[in-house]
Amino acid sequence: MRLDQFISSSSPLSRKEARRAIHAGRAEVDGEVWKDTGKHIPAGAEVVLDGTPLTVKGERYLMLNKPAGVVSATRDSEHPTALDLLPAELTKDLHIAGRLDADTTGLLLLTTDGKWSHRVTSPRVDCPKTYRVGLNTPITDSAIEELETGILLHNDPKPMKPAQVKVVEPQLIELTISEGRYHQVKRMLAAVGNHVEALHRQSIGAISLDPKLEAGGYRELTEQEIASIR
Ligand code: URA
Repeated sequence: MRLDQFISSSSPLSRKEARRAIHAGRAEVDGEVWKDTGKHIPAGAEVVLDGTPLTVKGERYLMLNKPAGVVSATRDSEHPTALDLLPAELTKDLHIAGRLDADTTGLLLLTTDGKWSHRVTSPRVDCPKTYRVGLNTPITDSAIEELETGILLHNDPKPMKPAQVKVVEPQLIELTISEGRYHQVKRMLAAVGNHVEALHRQSIGAISLDPKLEAGGYRELTEQEIASIR
C-alpha cells in the first residue's frame, strides 16, 4: 500500500492531509522519515505518524441508539446528526444503513462497508425491520388484516409486502416490515385510518438494539452481528 493511503486509512487524516503530513516529515517507516507520499510500504513495516504507531483498520460497523431530534444524515446545517454523536475518529467514511425520520428513535446502523449496507437496505434482500409503534387510536382487527395482507399506499404503484403485526397493547404494536420506503410505517398506519404517535426501531434482521445503550449511546457490532446480515 502507498504511504499516503496507509496513513489516511489508519488515522483521522484525509488523503490530502496525509500527503501534507508526509511532506512535513511527520511520517516514519521502520524508523526512517519518508517524504515520498506514493512510496509503497513493505509488508510488516512499522509506520509511525507524529510518534504514534499506526495500524490499518478494517471496515467499521456500529449501532447507535438514535434519540429524537437527531437527523439520519452525515451532515446538516441546522440539526444535530447521527455522526455528531460519535467520536470524530470513528466517523470517517461512515454512512447510515437505513435512515430513520428525525422524530423516530432506536436502532441505527452505521458502517464504512457499502456492500454490507446494501444488504440491509435493498428491497431485493429480505431484511426484516421491527418497529414499536405507538398509535393514537386502538388498532382494529381489520387494520391488522390489511397490514398483514400488503396494503397499497397512496401514490405508490406497488402494494407493500405483507407486514407482521404483534399487538402489545391496543395502542401499541410491534410491526415488522422488510422494505424501507419513505415514511413507510407512518404511511402504512395512515392508510388503515390510524396515526403514529411514537416510533422506535428495535431490530434489523438478527441485530437488536442493545438494551444497555442509552439514547445517544453507541457500540461496535460483534462479529456475529456483522455476519448475520447476508
Ligand atoms: N417508517 C417511518 O415512517 N419512519 C421511520 O423513521 C422509519 C420507518
